[in-house]
Amino acid sequence: MTIAPWRPALARALHRNRAQAYCRYLQLATVNESGKPSNRTVVFRGFVDEAIQMVTDSRSEKVQHIQACPWTEICWYFTVTREQFRIAGRITLISAAHDPDAVRLNAWQTMSANAHQQFYWPHPGEPRVSQAAFEPSATPSTAYPPDSFSVLLLTPERVEHLELRGHPQNRYLYQQTEGEWQLQEVNP
Ligand SMILES: Cc1cc2nc3c(=O)[nH]c(=O)nc-3n(C[C@H](O)[C@H](O)[C@H](O)COP(=O)(O)O)c2cc1C
Repeated sequence: MTIAPWRPALARALHRNRAQAYCRYLQLATVNESGKPSNRTVVFRGFVDEAIQMVTDSRSEKVQHIQACPWTEICWYFTVTREQFRIAGRITLISAAHDPDAVRLNAWQTMSANAHQQFYWPHPGEPRVSQAAFEPSATPSTAYPPDSFSVLLLTPERVEHLELRGHPQNRYLYQQTEGEWQLQEVNP
C-alpha cells in the first residue's frame, strides 16, 4: 500500500509536538439527526492503515450521529509547530456488533486500566447519578472490551494543512478523487 501524501506531514507534526501530551487531542465534528453540527474533543489513538483511529462509548450521542451520517471532519492544531490539519472523510464504526474484530480488541488492550474503567460508568449524557455508580464494582477485563466500547476509524478524503509559520503562511489541499490523491497549494 502506498502512503497517502498527507501522512508524512501529519506524522512529522505528531513527532515534533510529542513533548506535549495534548498534541493527541483533536476536535471531531459530526452532524446530528436534524442536520445541525456537533463538535467535541477526542484522543487520537493511532493509524489503522490510512484511517485515523479514535475510541468512544457506544452509548454516546456521536455514535448515533455517525450511524445516521458517517461524514465527519476533524480539526487538529499543533501548538509547538503552529500548524492545523482539517481532515474530512467517512467514519467506520466498529462496535460489539462486529465481534470478533481485531482492531477493536487491539484498541482495548492498548488502553490503560483507568481508561477502561470509564466504559463501565453509567450512561453518558443522562442525568447525573450518585457517586457510588462510578466506583468500580469489579476489575474490567484487560483482554476483552465491554459492549460500550467502540472504535471510530476516519478514512480521509480531503486534508487541508495550514502552516502558520512563514510569511505568507502555507496552505496545502490534498483531495482524493477516484482513489488518487491530488495536492494543490492554495492561498492561505
Ligand atoms: C481532552 C479530552 C479528551 C477526550 N477524549 C475523548 C475520547 O477519546 N473519546 C470520547 O468519546 N470522548 C472523549 N472526550 C469527551 C468528549 O469531548 C465528549 O464530551 C463526550 O465524548 C460526549 O460527546 P457526545 O455526547 O457528542 O458523544 C474527551 C474530552 C476531553 C476534554
